[in-house]
Amino acid sequence: VIKKETFSFNYWIYQDFSELGLMDQKLLEKSKDFLENAYAPYSGLQVGAAVLLSNDQILAGANQENAAFPVTLCAERTVLNFAGSNYPDNHIITIAVTAKQADKKTIQPAIPCGSCRQSLSEFEDRQNHPIRVLLQRENGTVFLFDTIKDLLPFSFSRLDLI
Ligand code: THU
Repeated sequence: VIKKETFSFNYWIYQDFSELGLMDQKLLEKSKDFLENAYAPYSGLQVGAAVLLSNDQILAGANQENAAFPVTLCAERTVLNFAGSNYPDNHIITIAVTAKQADKKTIQPAIPCGSCRQSLSEFEDRQNHPIRVLLQRENGTVFLFDTIKDLLPFSFSRLDLI
């Protein structure tokens, strides 16, 4: 028997920054501030990521590249692992990411890489709360996803290890 299944999800595109909630605006601004701390001499892509914790604290990080290219760590995992290490008793409500590449005109957000989606997915599972994902270029439209699972359906998880 062949059965066709369909997966679909909703996400939101904000053309106008002011239509976002104030906390989302603040978080995006924080991620934008932090992209200035990117160490990206090889790709030139500066990325900042900020997370809002359940205790209302905001943490942020930036991508850190390495001459041995695979050692590079994305902004998302830089801040996620910091949150997990320093605030293990708080969950992450939202992650905001801003990307900037000098001389590039695109206004489309950069979408988190597969490794960061996998990491976000595990954080979501372990905290048992969805992680909202806000994405933007330094100037441009904002994408909002309600949960990382929309960006990583059929994710590998601890259930696959049983
Ligand atoms: N990068 C991030 O920090 N986050 C993403 O979502 C995509 C990629 C970084 C890694 C590397 O320093 C540069 O962007 C180019 O891949």
